[in-house]
Amino acid sequence: MDGLWDRRALLISGKGGVGKTSVAAALARAAVNAGRRVLLAEVELGTEAEQGPSPLAELVGARAPSAQVTPVSANLSFVRLSAIEGQRLFLQEVLPLRVMADAALRTRALRRFLEAAPALREMGVLYQMLHLLRLTRSDGGAQHPLCILDLPATGHALALAALPDTLLTVMPAGPIGRAVREGMALLRDPARTGAVLVTLPEPLPVSETLELSTAIGRHGIPIAAGVLNRMPEDPFSPDGRAAVEQLLGAHGPHRGQRALGRLDRARGAQARLVANFPAPLLTLPELPASGPRLVELLATHLGSRGSAASSSTGVQP
Ligand SMILES: Nc1ncnc2c1ncn2[C@@H]1O[C@H](COP(=O)(O)OP(=O)(O)O)[C@@H](O)[C@H]1O
Ligand SMILES: [Mg+2]
Repeated sequence: MDGLWDRRALLISGKGGVGKTSVAAALARAAVNAGRRVLLAEVELGTEAEQGPSPLAELVGARAPSAQVTPVSANLSFVRLSAIEGQRLFLQEVLPLRVMADAALRTRALRRFLEAAPALREMGVLYQMLHLLRLTRSDGGAQHPLCILDLPATGHALALAALPDTLLTVMPAGPIGRAVREGMALLRDPARTGAVLVTLPEPLPVSETLELSTAIGRHGIPIAAGVLNRMPEDPFSPDGRAAVEQLLGAHGPHRGQRALGRLDRARGAQARLVANFPAPLLTLPELPASGPRLVELLATHLGSRGSAASSSTGVQP
């Protein structure tokens, strides 16, 4: 796990419903348990005014999630990365006076322009993350050595990945070009950034995850790990399984066959990932829990794997 914790940013992606948010929270907890300082982040969707509750904040007990970093517990803080906040920070940096940025953002036309162009929204989100990662403490160390970002959807990860090219095509020079280059250097540096792709042990999600890893890789974003989430527990030894098969054969269809079928599909999916996924794979079990309790159990599971974690489930040859 140290290979993960040593990076500056982990981008958690995957299809909705696969357990991205739970895994992001569990990774944050596991990193904190391993003695790391973590900034757990999510992306603000919609406008500042219409923000709903945050499942991620609830999973770690973060109160009043906002675009300002708030401490949650020792070594864990939370932030909701906001396009507007990022744009404000950016304008503050390029305009000679701080107040000018606020004045500029109060201009309806500029606001409408910034909100309308998706690339500029992504850019704002990315810029706020960049800004937070640049902050240093009085001893010179990073204020937020490790940021774990729960991305809202696979499309978002791709938009973020494609962003530098999109923006550089439109605005190759000037302060935006410079900020984009800095963001791009960070996003594409395997020592500092890594995408973590979460998936379920089923054929379709695995296919989609392999496609996503190719698409993200094409944009130059390094893949740090895959997480095969909700792997069903196998209650049988090989002998036990053979005995069950024999019984099933003798007595015809049985309800248990569904569970056995699921187990076989999960094993097949796992084997396919191990063979084709371009990074180490972590497997997390299906657990009889939800909410913060689930996060705690998953974090313990991640912690118990130690630094040789991935080898037990297979690293791509
Ligand atoms: N390993 C697991 N075992 C059991 N339930 C899980 C596990 N991982 C996620 N879940 C459940 O799956 C549902 C979706 O999880 P969530 O983290 O919100 O996914 P996503 O962010 O990808 O939409 C939640 O109800 C969560 O409790
Ligand atoms: Mg989610």
